[in-house]
Amino acid sequence: MRAVTIDAYGETPRLTEQPMPKVGPDSVLVRVRAAGVNPVDWRVADGAVDPLLNAYFPLTLGWDVAGVVAQVGVAVTEFAVGDEVVAYNRQDFAQFGTWAEYTPVPLRSLAPKSAGMSWEEAGGLPLAGLTAYQALAAAGVNGGGTVLIHAAGGGVGGFATQIAASRGARVIGTTSRTESFPFLRELGAEPVLSGEGLAERVRELAPEGVDASLDFLGGGSVAVSAELVRVPHRIVSVVDGSVKELGGQYVWVHPSGPDLRALNALAEAGSLRVHVSSAIPLEQAEEAVRLSRGGRVRGKIVLTVPAE
Ligand SMILES: NC(=O)c1ccc[n+]([C@@H]2O[C@H](COP(=O)([O-])OP(=O)(O)OC[C@H]3O[C@@H](n4cnc5c(N)ncnc54)[C@H](OP(=O)(O)O)[C@@H]3O)[C@@H](O)[C@H]2O)c1
Repeated sequence: MRAVTIDAYGETPRLTEQPMPKVGPDSVLVRVRAAGVNPVDWRVADGAVDPLLNAYFPLTLGWDVAGVVAQVGVAVTEFAVGDEVVAYNRQDFAQFGTWAEYTPVPLRSLAPKSAGMSWEEAGGLPLAGLTAYQALAAAGVNGGGTVLIHAAGGGVGGFATQIAASRGARVIGTTSRTESFPFLRELGAEPVLSGEGLAERVRELAPEGVDASLDFLGGGSVAVSAELVRVPHRIVSVVDGSVKELGGQYVWVHPSGPDLRALNALAEAGSLRVHVSSAIPLEQAEEAVRLSRGGRVRGKIVLTVPAE
């Protein structure tokens, strides 16, 4: 099968021919139709995630997948060949990723693909959608109140903004440029420019401060949040571990079939859309990585794989 691989950290990912991965007893083999692109993918290729995971080379990149079950492991009863599925396919090691024609996925990570989504939309949902969902849970954003979201128009921020707004929260979302204001409004946020003076700009909109904050940007974002959020525990970052020193929480997204089903339900209720900014053929993964590294993506970049 064809896969986008590296043979060592620091290499440019390229399309190579690889042996078909075996399917473990509690896994299924998925024929990939779409695979989301996330900043962590090129961080894995750079070696930046090495302290957290063992890596085995050749390493197939990619953790997001939407596709069709092609084979089931010997212990699997919950899914069958032909089922359309999605998964955040991160394991405790890196080797058999999703930027490929086939990827083995453990049951715990799988959910059915929502029938209302295109392959591209479904492939862009899992990692960023789960991160938003789990970060909102950690911050206790379940209903009303005001929430500040740093980088509200990116992959994760776009989902978090939509979910928080659909739950009745008032969302103040940051962007680095005024051109993104209409997109943030479409997602359900009141847009503000990030950078110097952010705390004052947020206070103009919310003089009493905010109830919770989600950081999908890093830099000094959590320090700004600390000026504005009344209960420090409700400051959450998925980027900056120093948030814990402020009394907040650091979240690393974990694979979850049940949480993916909850995201499907939100999409089916009309509360969540996947904005695909670029759908790029698997062969052009290098271009997808270049775009993601640029840090200006609105919504999701997705790699596509045609049906056999
Ligand atoms: N811990 C975890 O489990 C976890 C999981 C997922 C992601 N992450 C991390 O979370 C971060 C966001 O991920 P992502 O997938 O959402 O990335 P992404 O889609 O690449 O985010 C791009 C967005 O960031 C916005 N942005 C860039 N600079 C900005 C600034 N100075 N102020 C405000 N917004 C800015 C851009 O909006 P404008 O162009 O409009 O400014 C763009 O929409 C990454 O660092 C990623 O590695 C961590």
